[in-house]
Amino acid sequence: MEDRAQWGTRAGFILAAIGSAVGLGNIWRFPAVAYENGGGAFFIPYLFALLTAGIPILIMEFTMGHKYRGSAPMTLNKVSRKSEFIGWWAVVVAFIISTYYSVIVAWAVSYSVFSLNLSWGSDTEGFLFGEYLQLADTPGTFGGLVPGVVIPLALIWLLVLGILFKGVKKGIEIANRIMIPLLLIIFLIIVIRAVTLPGAMAGLDEFFKPDFTQILSPKVWVAAYGQIFFSMSIAFAIMITYASYLPKKSDITNNAFITGFSNSSFELLAGIGVFSILGFMAQQQGVPISEVVSGGVGLAFVVFPAIINEFPAFKELFGFLFFASLILAGLSSLMSIIETYISGISDKFGISRSKSVIFGGGLAALVSLLYATRGGLYFLDTVDYFINNFGVAALGLVEVILIAWVLRKLKEFKDHANAISDIQLGAWWTISLGVITPLVLGFMMFGLLKDNILREFDTETGNYEGYSDMFVLYVGWGAAIAALAIGIIFGLIKWKKSKEVE
Ligand code: ALA
Repeated sequence: MEDRAQWGTRAGFILAAIGSAVGLGNIWRFPAVAYENGGGAFFIPYLFALLTAGIPILIMEFTMGHKYRGSAPMTLNKVSRKSEFIGWWAVVVAFIISTYYSVIVAWAVSYSVFSLNLSWGSDTEGFLFGEYLQLADTPGTFGGLVPGVVIPLALIWLLVLGILFKGVKKGIEIANRIMIPLLLIIFLIIVIRAVTLPGAMAGLDEFFKPDFTQILSPKVWVAAYGQIFFSMSIAFAIMITYASYLPKKSDITNNAFITGFSNSSFELLAGIGVFSILGFMAQQQGVPISEVVSGGVGLAFVVFPAIINEFPAFKELFGFLFFASLILAGLSSLMSIIETYISGISDKFGISRSKSVIFGGGLAALVSLLYATRGGLYFLDTVDYFINNFGVAALGLVEVILIAWVLRKLKEFKDHANAISDIQLGAWWTISLGVITPLVLGFMMFGLLKDNILREFDTETGNYEGYSDMFVLYVGWGAAIAALAIGIIFGLIKWKKSKEVE
């Protein structure tokens, strides 16, 4: 359809794709995941997953978006009518992710303000869970909205929906052109400061020190694949959508390599920065580094404020820069996550982009309030775990099996990419997607499903994070299964006549 929006320039597309990939996953997830899963030895499964799944799938999604020029559901429908539900499944997964991703960006907004006078005080853990989040005692309770979270959350939604409202070229592209260079500058300042702190080298030593005993554990491989998928924004509709706005004459393969390697370089940079800073913290407190490492929420909102408190100079400035980098990285990813359903809804129901932004974005903003309640963190943690494993990673597997084995489209897609790209795809791409990824990921998914289902019945090991059976069932499995079920239902709905795909 020729009236489809388009990127203004190649650089604009690449910056948007990098903006999507580089996000909270790089800054607060990667360093801790790498550390927990063997440190230096984690790089082996990580690089394996990057080269045999991450980049090949990214090339496949760029090709699909470019070839069929549609949102994920429309693209999947054009690939084969029966597979449209997979596109919707991915879109619903993205919808769910956007509802809590926005909340974490909102926390970063609050913390960028707190950093101006270090108002988190000396007990940063007590401040986060007590004063700021007012965390409820038991998972599963709501306990009312927390105004300190709702206000920045509303701001984030207004800002991001405002950008999306403006469209692909005037909204997303321009926002990324400003945000990504700014993010890079801020992050470089932080990392340079970090590696020159006393104790930094000990931190880096700890980060890169390989623990080869872990490398054979399936858990480490699951972590590597999970990290690659989430971090590269693949298998949840994003890259198909972004590529659908490419002009006909566009490079595919080279763009995918640039995006993938930029993302991993940023990830590595984040690891170096974070571990240098942790090394500094450990030295200040005279404790081993393992005692100061923590991932996710703990790292960004408990450990970092504590470290900022001990900075030799310019505490407020570095605190602000760190949270600003989280906001920039998070926002540029959030807009790509939301764009998946803006695009999907407007394609399927033939409504304008503005209406789609209001309906889709408005609904997501409402749902996100769930995580702004006093019990919000428990919901967030559980939904995140289940949606990543049984949403994103499962989708990666299903998508690859569908294209490579069921529909046997690899050759056609390879020819499409090769006809327009500088770099030519060969056996590496076909074998990665046709053999390696389905087998390795299939094996992993089987183990992951088995472990998590067995955990429900095993009173010894307990559930994910020791949550109750009912909580994990309704919230965790509930979110993952709902995504698939809603995907199937949307796949069955008829297309608006004017938009019908032939
Ligand atoms: N790719 C995005 C991230 O890493 C979603 O956070």
